[in-house]
Order: sequence, then structure tokens, then C-alpha cells
Amino acid sequence: MYRTHYSSQINEELNGKRVKVAGWVYEIKDLGGIKFLWIKDREGIVQITAPKKKVAPELFAIIPKLKAEDVVAVEGIVSFTPKAKLGFEILPERIEVLSRARTPLPLDPAGKVKAELDTRLDNRFIDLRKPEIMAIFKIRSGVFRAVREFFHREGFIEIHTPKIIATATEGGTELFPMKYFEKDAFLAQSPQLYKQIMMASGLDRVYEIAPIFRAEEHNTTRHLNEAWSIDAEMAFIENEEEVMGLLEKLVAYTIRYVRENNGKELEILSFELEEPKLPFRRISYTKALEILADLGKEIPWGEDIDTEGEKMLGGYIKENYDEDLYFLYQYPSEAKPFYIMKYDKKPEISRSFDLEYRGVEITSGGQREHRHDILVEQIREKGLNPESFEFYLKAFRYGMPPHGGFGLGAERLIKQMLNLGNIREVILFPRDRKRLTP
Ligand code: AMO
Repeated sequence: MYRTHYSSQINEELNGKRVKVAGWVYEIKDLGGIKFLWIKDREGIVQITAPKKKVAPELFAIIPKLKAEDVVAVEGIVSFTPKAKLGFEILPERIEVLSRARTPLPLDPAGKVKAELDTRLDNRFIDLRKPEIMAIFKIRSGVFRAVREFFHREGFIEIHTPKIIATATEGGTELFPMKYFEKDAFLAQSPQLYKQIMMASGLDRVYEIAPIFRAEEHNTTRHLNEAWSIDAEMAFIENEEEVMGLLEKLVAYTIRYVRENNGKELEILSFELEEPKLPFRRISYTKALEILADLGKEIPWGEDIDTEGEKMLGGYIKENYDEDLYFLYQYPSEAKPFYIMKYDKKPEISRSFDLEYRGVEITSGGQREHRHDILVEQIREKGLNPESFEFYLKAFRYGMPPHGGFGLGAERLIKQMLNLGNIREVILFPRDRKRLTP
């Protein structure tokens, strides 16, 4: 065992005790009669102090030969002393070099030399050695943990559906086609059809956390070609409001969890994460168009609210209500996929919603059309062939309860939560138009 403690685990109770620490060389200082070595690990930094009089000559000789980013393991005695910058130091008894780092490094892990995002992503393993980058991924881990915990508490069952599929769900233009033996297949854009099929199974409340694949051709700061989606579907709902109620609780729970469990990371990022008030404001699509018109942006009823419009709305809500999260709902049926239910008395409006975080859509969802014949009609209205949905439609013929759900983009959520400029910051190895490696 090379490591008994992370740097952050060394406390006064260990004063005078023997520990083993391991990590990457951060800095070396040679003052002649005393040599210092700082090692960084996942949790922070430790100082190794080697006074000539107190350590073996071979040890004393190793330190000046080390270079930044070499991997070392040190065994020594903890000494709490006000002289040490961190409050304690380790007097080494053994230093072992486990791996040497070549020079020059492709990226400065101290972050003193600024690098382009592409260079950082090409060398992601070194990029992560910067505490502020690692902090993002520790928070990401916290987010996924919170989400699982939340669904578990709410009585949801985790499911896993196929990622090689036969039909499009979210419109035909964003598909990655692939050969599946003698058939044509696609990478899944969403677990939509499968999570709905599960509503006919009696599982009632399900969630899935899995990648979705979208062949978006454009390069933006909020689109990826491979993203992680947090999907939920619930049966026996009376309306879309029940789904919105669950979603806002999920998002608030996740933010609270990060505030409570990732305080150190938020501090590294110097970011004050605000806890949202429940319930989130609900703004109908029609109302949103009115607000935008007042702000000088006219969008004809029925058309999508574009990125600029979304941003303007985000700014308006922040300015007038000091809120970051809000729902846009009751979109025109025309603008939403075939599986969304329309209002019986006002079929031009759908039981759909998006959740917006600082002016960026992070979730879409709604109540689904569970009545077989109407669903077939809606598939036709979108110019699609019901025959290609036979495996899905079958589930609506033998007892399908009313249901609804949502898809929450994990990267969008984390990007907006931390107010970062580019979605690529929150996924280890982004897949975009140009990136297929690493
Ligand atoms: P939608 O297509 O709106 O809805 O996707 C749901 C959420 O997934 C995220 N997302 C993306 N994130 C990064 N890059 C992308 N290219 C990308 N595409 C989507 C967004 C978005 O809000 N089946 C429905 C959901 C449902 O109704 O249950 C769906 O997929 O955060």
C-alpha cells in the first residue's frame, strides 16, 4: 500500500505518527541544508520537509532530482508545527519514485500558462490535475449521486433501455445511422419510446441515466453529440403539473445536495450556488411571447423560441424576480413531438414543458398521449408512418395508464448550475463535430 492517507485526512491526531502519502510532485525547494517537496493528491497538498541533519543522505539526495509531475510515494512522520505553511509537515523516512514525467509537459498543470480549450481537452488527464477542473467533476459525481438518491426516495425504479434502436423519436434530422447486420439502425437519441413502454408494464415510476446521441451538425457551447440524459417516466398522473412538481423537487434536491456535500469544490471555483425557491415560476409559451414582444423581439405564435429569445427571457426573469429556474409550458402542439398529449379542448396547445436555468433549456417533458388511436393519428400528423412504431404502439393496446415524464440533460444542468461558458467543461471527453479522440 503506497498511501494510508490523503493530504486532507492528516489531522492533529496523527501528530508524531507514521503515514504514507502519494501523488504528483507539485513543487521543490532547495535551501541547501533543508529541502522541501510538495506533493499533490486528489484532495490537496502535503509538505515534505527534509532537514539534512534529520534524514538519511540517500533521501536527501533524491529530492533535488525530482521534477514537477513525477509520481512519488513518501512514508514519514507527521509533525504539526506553526512553521509549516499548511500547519504540518512530514519528515520523510522513505521516498519512492513510481513514475517519471517527461518534459516538456503538453499542458501546464499549475494553470499559470493559459491553454486553449482544445489543448486542455487533448490532454484531459493533466487538465484534471488543476484543482478547479477536478472540482467540476467532483461536483458532477455529486449531481449523479443526488439524482439517484432522490429517485430512490421517491419510489422510482432504475431501468436500462437499448442504445441501438430502429426508429427516431425526436425528429429525423439528428440521427447517427449505423449498420446492424443486414438492418439499418440508429444510436438512441432518447429512451423515450422504451420508458413509455414500461408504463404498460406496471413498473409505474422509472428512471434511466444514460447517454443520448444527437447528430447535431452545429458547434455550439450547449450542444454535444453524446450527452448524458436523466430520464424519468411516471404512470397514473392526471396532468403534466404532477411531472413538473417532481422535476422541480429533483432539481432543488440536487442543488441542495451539491451545496451541502461539495462545499470545498464550490469554494475552489469561488462560486456561490444559490438554492432555488419552490415552486418554480410557470410561464406559458403564449405569455413568454408577450414578454419577448415587450422586450422588442417578435416571434409569431407557433414558432420556436430561439436561443436569443431564451436568453432574453432568462434576463427578464432574473431582473424582475431574481430567479434562475422557471418553466416554460403549454407549447404549441405543432412544435412538440407526436407523443405529447394535446389539451382536449384546445388541441393547438400541448401538455408540454421545458425547464429553463439561467436562460438555457435543461429539460423537456410533458404528459404523453396514452390513447392508442389518438396517438396513431398524431404520428401521422407529424408525417411519420405508424407501422415503424408498431413495437411501441402495441404497448398502448393492452392497458396503458395515463403517464408523463421528462428528459433532463446532465451536462446542461451542471453547466448552468456552475454558470460555465461551455458545455465541454463538464464532460470528461466531449464528443462534438470535431472530437472523436481522446
Ligand atoms: P429533448 O430533445 O428536449 O427531449 O432533450 C431533453 C434534454 O436533453 C438535453 N439535450 C442535450 N444536451 C446536450 N447536447 C445535446 N445535443 C442535447 N440534446 C438534448 C437537454 C434537453 O432539454 N424525449 C424527450 C424528453 C421527454 O419528453 O421525456 C427529449 O429527448 O437538456
